[in-house]
Amino acid sequence: MTINYAALRDYLDGLVPERPAELQKMEAYAQEHGFPIIGPASGYLCYQLARMIEAQRIFELGSGYGYSTAWFAQAVQENGGGVVHHVVWDEGLSQMARGHLAALGYSDLIQYHVSEAVQALRETEGPFDLIFNDIDKTGYPASLPVIEEKLRSGGVMIIDNMIWSGQVWDETDQSEATVAIRTFTQQITTSPHWIASLIPIRDGLIVAYKK
Ligand SMILES: C[S@@+](CC[C@H](N)C(=O)[O-])C[C@H]1O[C@@H](n2cnc3c(N)ncnc32)[C@H](O)[C@@H]1O
Repeated sequence: MTINYAALRDYLDGLVPERPAELQKMEAYAQEHGFPIIGPASGYLCYQLARMIEAQRIFELGSGYGYSTAWFAQAVQENGGGVVHHVVWDEGLSQMARGHLAALGYSDLIQYHVSEAVQALRETEGPFDLIFNDIDKTGYPASLPVIEEKLRSGGVMIIDNMIWSGQVWDETDQSEATVAIRTFTQQITTSPHWIASLIPIRDGLIVAYKK
């Protein structure tokens, strides 16, 4: 049987418990403006993983207007408090995130950086329990050594868009972004320092455990 991926995505999103009105507003904005948020099923998995490892220090690279941040902030709040670093290089998106995350009651947990994300990570004192990566795909390979340095042993890295709409296995696609995703996948799945699996929810999340 051939899987209908749009139906699968809707089915998986439908399994996620009802979200607060503000989070639903953020989902509606993404839909209306074609903004690439991780969406409910991936967001819920991020929240679940952060709860499972009791994460209290989380660094996000490429935070947009704070949708993925909201899922991590919920986990950190329920884990007893801590910090989630929100990083985006666009001041307007950072302002939007401040509004949404305040409305959700997470202001005290978030540290905002308007900056290039890998540079911000380099400049921020670690170690972190969890690092989430959703920057421009061409930046993925160079981000790995910085993430590896800043994540604690036993910490988790999550990185989005690792299926890239199926372009990763289309050998005719040699665009810079696709090649960068392949390179990153090769790096993380062959490194002796990580245990990594690609989870095919939405556009594919690699979840990696740092040994
Ligand atoms: C794909 S969107 C994801 C948003 C967010 N993770 C979510 O799911 O709600 C990535 C965002 O990060 C920004 N971005 C991409 N590369 C970046 C970088 N190297 N440094 C800082 N921001 C970056 C983009 O402009 C965009 O706003």
